[in-house]
Amino acid sequence: MKKIINVEVKTRNVDFSRCKTDLLAVGLFSDAEGLDRLTSQLDSKLDGAIELLIKSGDFKAKEGTNSIVYGNDKIGAKRVLLVGLGEKKKATLDTIRKAAANTAMKAVETKIGTVCLALHKAFGGRFDLSAVGRSCGEGIFLGSYRYDEFVTASDDGRLDWLKVEVIDSDSAKTKKLNKGVNCGVIIGRAQSYARTLANRPANVISPAKLAETAKELAHGNKNLACTVFDEKQMAAKGMGGVLAVGSGSQNKPRFIILKYSPAGKAVNKLHTVALVGKAITFDSGGISIKPAAKMEEMKLDKTGGITVLGTMKAVAELQLPLNVLAVIPSAENLPSGSSYRPGDIITTFSGKTVEVQNTDAEGRMILCDGLNYAVKQNCDVIIDVATLTGACHVALGKYMAGLMGNDEKLIKQLQRAAEESGENVWPMPSGDEYAEEMKSKIADLKNIGSRWGGACTAAAFLRQFVGDAKWAHLDIAGVEMFEKPSAFTAEGSSGFGVRLLTTYLINLADLR
Ligand code: BES
Ligand code: MN
Ligand code: ZN
Repeated sequence: MKKIINVEVKTRNVDFSRCKTDLLAVGLFSDAEGLDRLTSQLDSKLDGAIELLIKSGDFKAKEGTNSIVYGNDKIGAKRVLLVGLGEKKKATLDTIRKAAANTAMKAVETKIGTVCLALHKAFGGRFDLSAVGRSCGEGIFLGSYRYDEFVTASDDGRLDWLKVEVIDSDSAKTKKLNKGVNCGVIIGRAQSYARTLANRPANVISPAKLAETAKELAHGNKNLACTVFDEKQMAAKGMGGVLAVGSGSQNKPRFIILKYSPAGKAVNKLHTVALVGKAITFDSGGISIKPAAKMEEMKLDKTGGITVLGTMKAVAELQLPLNVLAVIPSAENLPSGSSYRPGDIITTFSGKTVEVQNTDAEGRMILCDGLNYAVKQNCDVIIDVATLTGACHVALGKYMAGLMGNDEKLIKQLQRAAEESGENVWPMPSGDEYAEEMKSKIADLKNIGSRWGGACTAAAFLRQFVGDAKWAHLDIAGVEMFEKPSAFTAEGSSGFGVRLLTTYLINLADLR
């Protein structure tokens, strides 16, 4: 099996024009009047080649575009990559993240293994340099990622390594950049880890395999502890929701718990945030089977759980001063003689009974047990993340996750983290009107509502299992996958939520 590309991002205090490298990336705004200081310095050493490229209209500096200018003996770089940043007034930290990603795409495409980034120079003092460094680190991982571990034929000689340096000629600035880069590398690497796990198909990752992966993650970090319940232990505890969904498959369900406790802190005094992630390793719909078209995409139905796993990896490596409890119920939703059926009444872990009207509404059936577990562990804040409804995909498209919840402050915190991380969310309702639709005549709840507002009724179902905890729900159906490659990243799993949730937790840790 091929290894995923190994990425290294560091910082270096060096003069821009003297920096020896295969590729030096600089940013340009599409509406800039003339070149900024760094670029014009390079340009004069390159005898006006950059100016010529722009004047000729061959490079317009639109976001997602780039152009190579070859170096000469007056500069250290073999090539200068001009990276488009789009309009100056629209620039955010995500502009830098995308520019770094676009640079990494180019490097991997052209097999250039060593790169220097001076993208931040175009922004002047507009953003905090540590935040800039973080965006660069995250962007390099985003752009260089390819999923090809099972491709054995015609080895195309893909790079095994990508080594990137974020450079500045001022040592104080380099130091600030470095702080952010180190953080961005941890987050970026955690997201790539999540993308790889999510991209692996269901014959490779079963619930048991996912549980093993979580155990391996915990083994590698002394502040993480992993507990797994198998189907017998779940039966003893009465986790009827997860068991029902997993009952049709030979690959038995697992209930995965990861606990992060920071070293040396008065652990019990800190609040605990619970992250609950849906990990359906394959969603065929079960007896209420899905149509065949695109069913293969349902290997990504474990993304919520994997996002939580990736976030725990980042949190542990960042050593955040918070308690975080990860709860990942995992099952495979298949039809068979032992499957749960439409009409079944399931007693969930909470004691509440649910009438199953559609076995394809399985995410909520496993999440209700996960949420209730977090409630029983006295978590103050519970955030769940799930590829929950096609309706959310229809409502918001491929650009934003649905955000529901019962606490305004928590919702605002997540919105802020979304802005900072570039993983966008949009608020949606989940109140009483929707909960009303989820009432059953023969049980406490049923698992589907009417035809309309499916993302909201699904959230309203979950809301009834969180007790008095502050709760938020991220419906990531649609954003869990990039349908096609873009100028910033390859197709396949997006690992959506690792940046968002880690950013939320970093901000929360900062407030203490
Ligand atoms: N995993 C799906 C939701 C999904 C759809 C995720 C498309 C990603 C892309 C979920 O389990 C599901 O099947 N939901 C049903 C619910 C319905 C039966 C109430 C849906 O959205 O159709
Ligand atoms: Mn389903
Ligand atoms: Zn599903």
